[in-house]
Amino acid sequence: MERSQALKRISELRDLIEYHNRRYYQLDDPEISDYDYDKLMQELAALEERFPDIDRSASPTQRVGASPLEKFGTVTHLTAMLSLGNAFSEDEVSEFDERIKRQLGDKAEIDFVTEPKIDGVAVNLIYEKGVFRVGATRGDGFTGEDVTQNLRTIRTLPLKMRPRDHHHVPDRIEIRGEVYLEKESFRKLNERRVEQGESAFANPRNAAAGSLRQLDPRITARRPLDLFCYGVGSIEGKSFTTHWDTLKTLGDWGLPTNPEIRLARNVRDCIGYWRHIESIRETLPYEIDGIVLKVNSLSLQDRLGMVSRSPRWAVAVKFAPTQATTFIEDIVIGVGRTGVLTPVAVMKPVRVGGVTVSRATLHNEDEIAKKDVRIGDTVIVQRAGDVIPEVVKVIESKRTGREKPFRMPEKCPVCGSKVVRLEGEVAHRCIDLACPAQIRENIRHFVSRGGMDIEGLGDKIVSQLLDAGLIRDPADLYALTKEQLLELDRFADKSAENLIAAIARSKHPPLERLLFALGIRHVGEYVAKILSKKCGSLGKIETASQEELTAIDGIGPTIAESIYRFFHEPHNLKILRKLEQAGIRPFVEKHATSTALAGKTFVFTGSLKGFSREKAKEIVVTLGGAATSTVSKKTDYVVAGEDPGSKFDKARSLGVAILDEEKFVKLIREADGKE
Ligand code: IVH
Repeated sequence: MERSQALKRISELRDLIEYHNRRYYQLDDPEISDYDYDKLMQELAALEERFPDIDRSASPTQRVGASPLEKFGTVTHLTAMLSLGNAFSEDEVSEFDERIKRQLGDKAEIDFVTEPKIDGVAVNLIYEKGVFRVGATRGDGFTGEDVTQNLRTIRTLPLKMRPRDHHHVPDRIEIRGEVYLEKESFRKLNERRVEQGESAFANPRNAAAGSLRQLDPRITARRPLDLFCYGVGSIEGKSFTTHWDTLKTLGDWGLPTNPEIRLARNVRDCIGYWRHIESIRETLPYEIDGIVLKVNSLSLQDRLGMVSRSPRWAVAVKFAPTQATTFIEDIVIGVGRTGVLTPVAVMKPVRVGGVTVSRATLHNEDEIAKKDVRIGDTVIVQRAGDVIPEVVKVIESKRTGREKPFRMPEKCPVCGSKVVRLEGEVAHRCIDLACPAQIRENIRHFVSRGGMDIEGLGDKIVSQLLDAGLIRDPADLYALTKEQLLELDRFADKSAENLIAAIARSKHPPLERLLFALGIRHVGEYVAKILSKKCGSLGKIETASQEELTAIDGIGPTIAESIYRFFHEPHNLKILRKLEQAGIRPFVEKHATSTALAGKTFVFTGSLKGFSREKAKEIVVTLGGAATSTVSKKTDYVVAGEDPGSKFDKARSLGVAILDEEKFVKLIREADGKE
């Protein structure tokens, strides 16, 4: 691949991965499987390695995840929480082993500890003199959310270490582990949620993440979360020589460790272990997405060090995604919130990776054409441990000639309006805003967690309300009465009262949440936040011109046009007025109106210790400043972290003020104090 092509692909991959990072880490609502995500990361890392002169300081390979949400307190980890490189085949495992031997300059076989890779949520637990003090999520690897109260509800987490044989406990230790939910508990939890009209969690990992990040620890306590510890961060007043020893001692102190962990004498043992765990995968009570291999000797680990946020002494070895063969009975169309028509294969039910699937997404017309999928085809479907199954390929040898090619409909299957495919888009859309399918998805989005967050108003209830003709748009929710609900199936006195109360409680959302809830195209949670901070009121956004919107840092012409259009569409304005009349009064948080850094433009280069770059930018924006990516004469400050790039030199040559991290922190502290 040529450099210019590589540049293009790298930038594409970075955007794509950042997008999926937000879906996964911040929304707990991933759109692709971990396997596919890992593949994207691997492709990006490989390209970046091949073209080392391309600046990677802002690449997702340089960080572990997205920045934490604002609701919890934050905890800065004593040592950074790293992530793992991946291997997908025996060859890649052997390469990992050879790389290590090469680097150590020693051909001798290496001892590895082999562990299942638990598919849950990473946590960091701080124990002082044997007492559990603070626990946090991984966050961006440096700073996570303080979920101590929620962790305390986990029954297998010792609040006090229980040293066996009078083992000496360290003065202070960071213990790393994975919080998870057993498959059976997950099934029961979902069953209950669906019964109560709430939406089901997509998989145990999402359920664990959602439970751990509950603001109300009493809810967490009702979810049977569990924990496996697999490592140590910083440690004072004690040391270990091997990883095996570390794990054994953690166990002796009363911390839960995984019973499947083994010691391997060489790479062949590792591959054997991988096959073994894969064969017992379905029988394990928890979900795993691979195994982890770790060099046993801690002094060798030290010598090997790390590369781009992952240790060279460990690797995650993934399982092949689970596949099965089945038959396509029909192809139907689903209509989403923005009117996008998604073709879905209806298949003869088949068991894949332990669950029965009967539907698989075909994404769009181009994908169908590329794979040449027809009704009546025998196909291979894949479920990569989670989310939406997909059709991998058609088995052409099974064709009889009676298969029917699929054509996208010209009319929306739900409302009959015209379907269009816009320039430059792969998707077909129904453009009728009054399409019932769009209305339903719009309302679901409106009440969802990132939006108005109306508790107890799940998908089923939304459909029920629509079918009963009680609502036609989001604003109608606020006119519902208890009596109306009691007419419906599944509502009793208490549940009707609860829902009415939850709806009423949503009347004063933060402006950014209302903006997100409205479902304006291209306005996700991040853009909504910027808009809310910059404009400060719905009225200001409504009356802003496209030029004014584009002038806001972080909002490009496409987003600006979409916002402008939304607020000039009579149907939308009608709903906005209705919401106002219903008493919806969004508020803007105190910081949002800060002007302490107004007019000041910042550019970041190099990595900061105290926060992710995303977070630093957010702080600047919160204080009324702007964060851009290129240094010019107009730039007020360049903030230089560790290993700054070419922006540093440019700032120097232009005479732009350069701040190190300490000075930057001082500046924002002072700016914050001006409030
Ligand atoms: S070791 C430097 N061991 O996998 C080593 N991680 O990207 C860092 N995970 O979210 C991790 N089981 O929480 C390690 N036995 C295990 C694990 C494990 C699950 C998770 C970890 C992190 C991801 C690593």
